[in-house]
Amino acid sequence: MEILSNFAVFEGCDGSGTTTQLALLEKRLGLPAKNQAAPRFFPTFEPTRGPAGLLIRRALKKEIVLLPDTLARLFAADRTEHLYASGGVLAHTGAGELVVSDRYVLSSLVYQGIECGEELPAALNAAFPAPELLVFFDLDPVIARERLQSRAALEIYEYLEFQTLVRERYHALLPACRESGSRVEIIDASKRPEEVAEEVWSALQKMPIFE
Ligand code: TYD
Repeated sequence: MEILSNFAVFEGCDGSGTTTQLALLEKRLGLPAKNQAAPRFFPTFEPTRGPAGLLIRRALKKEIVLLPDTLARLFAADRTEHLYASGGVLAHTGAGELVVSDRYVLSSLVYQGIECGEELPAALNAAFPAPELLVFFDLDPVIARERLQSRAALEIYEYLEFQTLVRERYHALLPACRESGSRVEIIDASKRPEEVAEEVWSALQKMPIFE
């Protein structure tokens, strides 16, 4: 499988801290004085804020109802724009920047795999390049649920039974990610955010872009 250089992704169940960790990384890499050797950084996320991503977010918030297969197709369409549109992921990796995305293909294989069966998301996502590094934030869904409780409203996938399946499916699919050529780092996300951030940092530092 094609590996996209300079590209890393964060994956994990809802409440595992991927978004928090991307923000902490942005802080760290956004301090050029302290990090003169650091590459230029482009943090990004899926679902995106593009048209398909916005539709997905409305469905996640239960504002509109879509069939699981429709949602699987929208995630793949959103990803196509995310990667290939002007100013997208490929433009940045190609310019020698470090791109880190909060969620990518594996989210679809896990979440839509549970809802639609594995065939459709596998077919829809087969052509996307694999990331050089995949950081999986591993967290007990019970702890993740406690973290999510403080949010105003829960989204369609944010209930314990589903998140338990999500964690199992991530663990089941990580070996295949390794076989596809991505470096996979599993991080214990129950630690304090600062400790997790240190582990994320050392995982990233092994990317050739930091050499
Ligand atoms: P999330 O990163 O939790 O966004 P936010 O922090 O803004 O709530 O992602 C939103 C949800 O979308 C999350 O439950 C995972 C789900 N998702 C999929 O089901 N498939 C996908 O391909 C992606 C990228 C996300």
